[in-house]
Amino acid sequence: MQLALSTWQEVEEYLRRSDGIVVPIGSVEQHGPNGLIGTDHLCAEVVARGLGDAVGCAVAPTLAYGMSQHHLGFAGSVTLRPATLMLVVRDVVQSLALHGFRRFFFINGHGGNIATVTAAFDEIFAAASLGQGPSVRCRMVFWSGPRCKAISDELYPGVEGRHATASEVSLAQHYQPGHIKHAQMSPKVAANAPHFFDAADYRQRYPDGRIGSDPSLSSPEHGKRLYEAAVLDMTDAYRAFMEY
Ligand code: NI
Repeated sequence: MQLALSTWQEVEEYLRRSDGIVVPIGSVEQHGPNGLIGTDHLCAEVVARGLGDAVGCAVAPTLAYGMSQHHLGFAGSVTLRPATLMLVVRDVVQSLALHGFRRFFFINGHGGNIATVTAAFDEIFAAASLGQGPSVRCRMVFWSGPRCKAISDELYPGVEGRHATASEVSLAQHYQPGHIKHAQMSPKVAANAPHFFDAADYRQRYPDGRIGSDPSLSSPEHGKRLYEAAVLDMTDAYRAFMEY
């Protein structure tokens, strides 16, 4: 059940049977030569909606913007500063909590969000512990679980990398087949330096935006396999969260 496509009466009815909601969160940032700017939020969104269809849970509108300061050296990338993103997460959770939602299952598409969103959850928990906010349960997982890992290990052995991966580009191609891009990439597998700092440092270390990946291997057929696996992975994770 997509929140954005429901009436308030339908949301009230839903809350009589469940207090869980899925919140897709991603980023607006470069994804290498053939990856879409929206890759991270598109991936989180398509998997979250697939989970919603599979188990009948509520799915909130996608939080498209994330913490992407290190990508600002590439056109089209947008960041929320960590403090901003924390406030966005808090306000979304506390608004929905007012109506009775208690369990917030964030499906994430962007590693750069993890530290900030985790800190936002701690702010929400601290407010509850201090008697200044609702008692809720928030958890965030990446959209790809063990079934997806097995597929990416099979399809992209040793070259999945860490950014603009063939897996996420494939999943976005499956979701948006009208927007598949092709590009020459050199080297074929991108550099995989372990650390980066600000946007200028990132661009110097990873000139075309990729980290350790070979997204020339991506395809919508791979994306379909990954999508189906991700929905099963997230179904397991959501059910476990709701029963915890
Ligand atoms: Ni990504």
